[in-house]
Amino acid sequence: MASRGHALALLVLLALAAAASAGRHQHQHHRHGRKSARLQLIPSAPGASLADRARDDRHRHAYIRSTLASRRRAAEVGASAFAMPLSSGAYTGTGQYFVRFRVGTPAQPFVLVADTGSDLTWVKCRRGGGSAAAESPDAQTPPPAREFRPAASKTWAPIACSSDTCTSYVPFSLANCSSPASSCAYDYRYKDGSAARGVVGTDSATIALSSSGRAGSGAAADSSRRAKLQGVVLGCTASYDGQSFQSSDGVLSLGNSNISFASRAAARFGGRFSYCLVDHLAPRNATSYLTFGPGPEDGGASPSPTSAPAAPEQTPLLLDRRMSPFYAVTVDTVYVAGEALDIPADVWDVDRSGGAILDSGTSLTILATPAYAAVVAALSRQLGDLPRVSMDPFEYCYNWTAADGGAPEIPKLEVQFAGSATLEPPAKSYVIDAAPGVKCIGVQEGAWPGVSVIGNILQQEHLWEFDLRDRLLRFKHTRCAQ
Ligand SMILES: *[C@@H]1O[C@H](CO)[C@@H](O)[C@H](O)[C@H]1NC(C)=O
Ligand SMILES: *[C@@H]1O[C@H](CO)[C@@H](O)[C@H](O)[C@H]1NC(C)=O
Ligand SMILES: *[C@@H]1O[C@H](CO)[C@@H](O)[C@H](O)[C@H]1NC(C)=O
Ligand SMILES: *[C@@H]1O[C@H](CO)[C@@H](O)[C@H](O)[C@H]1NC(C)=O
Repeated sequence: MASRGHALALLVLLALAAAASAGRHQHQHHRHGRKSARLQLIPSAPGASLADRARDDRHRHAYIRSTLASRRRAAEVGASAFAMPLSSGAYTGTGQYFVRFRVGTPAQPFVLVADTGSDLTWVKCRRGGGSAAAESPDAQTPPPAREFRPAASKTWAPIACSSDTCTSYVPFSLANCSSPASSCAYDYRYKDGSAARGVVGTDSATIALSSSGRAGSGAAADSSRRAKLQGVVLGCTASYDGQSFQSSDGVLSLGNSNISFASRAAARFGGRFSYCLVDHLAPRNATSYLTFGPGPEDGGASPSPTSAPAAPEQTPLLLDRRMSPFYAVTVDTVYVAGEALDIPADVWDVDRSGGAILDSGTSLTILATPAYAAVVAALSRQLGDLPRVSMDPFEYCYNWTAADGGAPEIPKLEVQFAGSATLEPPAKSYVIDAAPGVKCIGVQEGAWPGVSVIGNILQQEHLWEFDLRDRLLRFKHTRCAQ
């Protein structure tokens, strides 16, 4: 845990350095009506091994599956309640991204996990005089310095347990509501022993504004211009246990939910948000970002007339209550080296216990068994001349230096979504560098029936725009960095 603490300290320093440099590069372009808010995404453990990432991904996949299973059951019986999550893998987090986030009046700063699979934003919190420290304190991991103090915020307002927000939308809200005006309380309990307990309220969030006048550059938010977003639903986690919650101050919910920060912020900034992830092996100071409103590559003046940006691909976003808070998309066909793979349509069908979601908090893409089998068979057939190397957690790894006559060509993988939008990830996103001279087919097998997850490595070097208003997912290839 000491190394994790160290990593966090490093990240905080990087974040501060990035903020300082952003401040220095304020740009003067402002276009009215095209305001957006920009947050930097900081990888939570950029040096983490692929084995660690794979382990975290499996925990998170268990969490996603159990959440979806209970949502589906709840949707079937028309109930609003659903079962407790199985695993806190949602936030184990070696392959996740942090954002800096300020909440309250005056604003109090935090570092939160940016999570497209979450509906409740929460921060570690201290109510009244007591401290909100972990219940099972670990001597090696001191409690975080940052705790939200609702009493110190003029804009904090508790939500009543009898309110519609509490009864319909707050996940794991406690059923007992002794008097209608009592606080809306939540109690997440995970099978691995982690838990987060607290009360829900609303407060305002302070976010830096950027103007999207210039394509490509302009990632530097003009730090002198800020907007306050009122009425953000915020969980104040008064106690927690488990290691899962040690590495951040809480969670920023980017999920599809009425109470998520994403839906709240998108409502203010053009009905959409986007993120762009630099290569996961990029230098640590390379910046990925999260934008609410029009993105930097969106519409504004092109830097040069000869490099007019290509139109993004787009596919329907399935904002289905049964899939909430996850963002589901429909995969039509997967191609390897131009050949369509034979994968049963049920695998991609949310109505038949399949489907695919896009997740910011999963590193390696997880494919349900029939899809996994077809994809690795096709890729490994093309790479079959190379000597195999065994390397946990992957099934297919190759000695890349052993090839006679230079490195072999990696066959092209294409994922075609409904509406013909085609994702053509760079080869390094699916045949990934696992060790010096060793490359592995970088997907994991997920149980079938079950959902497949497009992880953040397959998403890298693309801009992903979640248009919640028009229910579309847009994407295009870009390096993301300036
Ligand atoms: C629910 O019940 C427990 C135990 O009786 C109590 O400690 C807690 O304060 C109650 N919560 C609410 C929101 O009334
Ligand atoms: C938000 O609330 C409205 C009205 O209650 C409902 O129709 C809609 O489905 C909700 N959206 C989500 C994502 O839960
Ligand atoms: C990152 O740091 C390296 C040196 O450590 C520097 O050369 C490079 O320009 C930096 N990149 C960015 C985007 O700041
Ligand atoms: C790859 O092959 C080369 C040449 O045959 C060999 O020297 C090297 O040890 C191999 N690497 C691994 C990881 O097996």
